[in-house]
Amino acid sequence: MKTIPVITVDGPSGVGKGTLASLLSNYLGWHLLDSGAIYRAIALKALKTETDSKDIETLVKLAGELDLSFQSIPGEPASVFLDGENVSNELRTETCGAVASQIAPIAEVRAALLQRQKDFRQAPGLVADGRDMGTVVFHDAPIKFFLTASAEERAKRRYKQLKNKGVDANIRALENEIAARDERDSNRKVSPLVPAEDAIIIDTSDMSINEVFQYCLKIIKKTSE
Ligand code: DC
Repeated sequence: MKTIPVITVDGPSGVGKGTLASLLSNYLGWHLLDSGAIYRAIALKALKTETDSKDIETLVKLAGELDLSFQSIPGEPASVFLDGENVSNELRTETCGAVASQIAPIAEVRAALLQRQKDFRQAPGLVADGRDMGTVVFHDAPIKFFLTASAEERAKRRYKQLKNKGVDANIRALENEIAARDERDSNRKVSPLVPAEDAIIIDTSDMSINEVFQYCLKIIKKTSE
């Protein structure tokens, strides 16, 4: 049986991997997995059920029972449904992101989510974005991208996003937060944020999202020749 192709897009937060993955999946007509949304969904479930982020047993149970589905609209980020309710906006809140980052390093939770993520690999193909798509979940993926950008550049992008939403922010503080999170993510014991050995590393600091997209398309076309 021919294996279903996967393209993995990994990298730190604020590097544009979600946008790139969505553009690629639309272009190719492939499925999309936003694995960060799964971690955020467990975080939201934990918040709603008042589960402590250190209560591993309950978190693993929540992970196993998670009633989660994605609905994609071409050209837009997929909507996420938890227990039948559209929670896309709730998932993007700082609170949810903070709890997700406390839960994500727990090995038992990651193990409970492994098969669920693998199940997204369906014909004609999958574009999966996250932190460990190329190293753990789809380590046999034929094409792996790993996006990077300086903490300074990501802080600038985040600052712009917040400003557009009318939220006041301090660019220096954002840069420090991003650098601290990178340090934690890269040095954690379980699924640390590192590029797979066979990943193509793209520094997007001085590239627009369209330039990154075009560059990736060239590589995909070359690989499938
Ligand atoms: O990409 P994001 O900000 O939506 O991810 C939310 C959290 O989940 C973040 O702390 C990183 C973590 N995560 C992870 O550990 N592994 C993944 N494959 C995806 C996200």
